[in-house]
Amino acid sequence: MAITAPKGTRDILPEESYRWIYLEEKIRKLCALYRYEEIRTPMFEKTELFVRGVGQETDIVQKEMYTFEHRDKESFSLKPEGTAAVVRAYGENKLYSQPQPVKLYYITPCFRAERPQKGRYRQFHQFGIEVLGTKSAGIDAEVIAVAARLFVLLQIKNIKLYINSVGCGKCRGDYYEKLKAFLFKNLDALCADCKKRYETNPMRILDCKEETCQKALQGAPFIVEYLCEECRQHFDEVKENLELMGVDYEINPRIVRGLDYYEKTAFEFVSEDIGAQGTVCGGGRYDGLSELIGGPPTPGIGFGLGLERLLMLTEDSLSVKKPPLNIYIASMGRQAEKKAQQFVEALRTAGISAEKDVMGRSLKAQMKYADKSEAENVLILGEEELKTGVAEIKNMQTGRQHSVNIETFEQFIADYKAGAEKG
Ligand code: HAM
Repeated sequence: MAITAPKGTRDILPEESYRWIYLEEKIRKLCALYRYEEIRTPMFEKTELFVRGVGQETDIVQKEMYTFEHRDKESFSLKPEGTAAVVRAYGENKLYSQPQPVKLYYITPCFRAERPQKGRYRQFHQFGIEVLGTKSAGIDAEVIAVAARLFVLLQIKNIKLYINSVGCGKCRGDYYEKLKAFLFKNLDALCADCKKRYETNPMRILDCKEETCQKALQGAPFIVEYLCEECRQHFDEVKENLELMGVDYEINPRIVRGLDYYEKTAFEFVSEDIGAQGTVCGGGRYDGLSELIGGPPTPGIGFGLGLERLLMLTEDSLSVKKPPLNIYIASMGRQAEKKAQQFVEALRTAGISAEKDVMGRSLKAQMKYADKSEAENVLILGEEELKTGVAEIKNMQTGRQHSVNIETFEQFIADYKAGAEKG
């Protein structure tokens, strides 16, 4: 039986690859505009990084990591997300000694052993940004604005930004008591996971998709109503900054996010156009994360944006062209083919994309191939052309032909370029 790709993974074939390249280029340009620099971290990390960073009790750590033991029994995991590794790298490489804040971005595969469905894969890709070294609410708004601008650039319309504040350790103590007291009477109705969350991180219950849990939550208090003075002020400033930057948002007290490192700002961009997995981008502030993983105390904020979901959103609007084939050299006979072999390589050296037959096709079949490949120009080499030292280049769009000297390559290139300019 033929071996297939692992469940939840997919091949990105050339036709689709062009769309990825297009998106990635847009992202890189956008990051340059906002002055974010690229960071590349390893595909796997010590498991401990995610256990401490993302959180022991999260679904990611409990159920979704691809973890393996090395020969010396050390445990590693494929990265399920980008943030923890970036924060580790910031401390390990002493990026705190550079002018602050440090603004980073990444485009990386991530791995989560989730149940695959539309928009949810076991290997997926994230574009993420992280800003380290400032608590400024202005930077929260900037981070959100980067994602918002990407959606504008890609002409994605039906997407909504939801923001919330998930508070900090100070405000959570009080809030957890209130939430637990509220849920206590319905404790039996909660799913098994939420029963655990009730003890470890009750706020995460708000994010549970189970119907019984959602029912039990009706009328539950939200943390945004219990913020301490510092968190309240920060949230107000984030909102004000978003308004100053012209970014539309809606406050959604239910946004709590699935990773434990968040405090204060939390946000999501959600679209209803791509099915159940509509969260295209999620992020927030994580001022305690660096210390949690043994690094220097460093405030941080960022987001992760799923590229598969982004591509689904642009499916209809994005028409991406393949790079052109500037010239196809068709040939008849062994001598002409040799010349073609020499010329295609010389053309490429001159920066002109070129192809010749490598399948032993007839002239007719070569012309058909050139047509299918959307060659801009075709040059036909046969005995006659070799004898006279002159051949015709046909512009496939206009049908116009012009003569080129094929005796020397330099002359040929000069004639080709002169002809190409005329069209
Ligand atoms: P996250 O919400 O777990 O956050 O993931 C961010 C985005 O990755 C999601 O909104 C979604 O678009 C995409 N995504 C997640 N899981 C899958 C999957 N199985 N298949 C396809 N796409 C998926 C984080 O990962 C945080 N590190 C974001 C962050 C950065 N927060 C601060 N900085």
